[in-house]
Amino acid sequence: MDERPIGFFDSGLGGLTCIPHIMRSLPGERIIYFGDTARTPYGSKAPRTILGFAREIADFLVAKGVKMIAIACNTVSSIAMDDLRERHPGIPILGIIEPAIAAVAATCTAGSHVGVIGTKATIGSEAYPKMLLRSSPGLDVYGQACPALVPLIEEGIIQHEIMDLTLRYYLEQFLSYNNIDTLVLGCTHYPLVRRNIEKLYPGLRIIDPSEEMAGSVTGALVRGGLCAEGPGQGENIFYASDLSENFMNMIQRIFAGSDLRVTFKTVDIEEMRAE
Ligand code: DGL
Repeated sequence: MDERPIGFFDSGLGGLTCIPHIMRSLPGERIIYFGDTARTPYGSKAPRTILGFAREIADFLVAKGVKMIAIACNTVSSIAMDDLRERHPGIPILGIIEPAIAAVAATCTAGSHVGVIGTKATIGSEAYPKMLLRSSPGLDVYGQACPALVPLIEEGIIQHEIMDLTLRYYLEQFLSYNNIDTLVLGCTHYPLVRRNIEKLYPGLRIIDPSEEMAGSVTGALVRGGLCAEGPGQGENIFYASDLSENFMNMIQRIFAGSDLRVTFKTVDIEEMRAE
């Protein structure tokens, strides 16, 4: 039994979409979440920059005594996984892409046309097609970067025609030209516009890696003998490098109706570097 918290992180508030699934599946676990809201978005930055940010946050979480790090960010998972695992060999480090690949393998058959949408960095890294084709060589895989979605979502522009127009701008031709039957939401912000996509494109199969992550975290806890005895004692802590109004609004949206017990803290990036 291991009562230490699990560390999650994302470039901002997108990774919070994973947390309700985790809290439902693992009610006994404590969570430390870090959202790098001062430096978001990551997805349009260079891989070297993203790697530097990811190292700082992983070091911060390890210093807070987490028993595992779950990277609730496709952009970081596609660029920094191997590096972070080498840097912190003492704890399991999970990415969000592997569980997504497993979900595609479980639902798609050879000949399926799978579309992956994500940030420029995620799509540019080709992490999804490489891993998908390794596990299911019979698939046809296509990628589409949608860089305007994250800023709109961070601004809370979701149930609005601007969002629907933006989705159509990125998806209309992409889906029809490539005959996509399955769409992977390859950015943890995108579950927040899943309903818009479903309304615009009924019949499209959608795979949401944020949902899949709960299973992978559970599996790793069990395999490593790291489960908490529970029921959840101690506090969940959400750190943000900028505790902005957007961050708090999004928390309201994502956790509406749940009995979230959490302490919010701001972390100054310069102080974090100095620690
Ligand atoms: N939520 C992040 C992801 O899953 C990316 C957002 C960003 O561009 O910072 O890729």
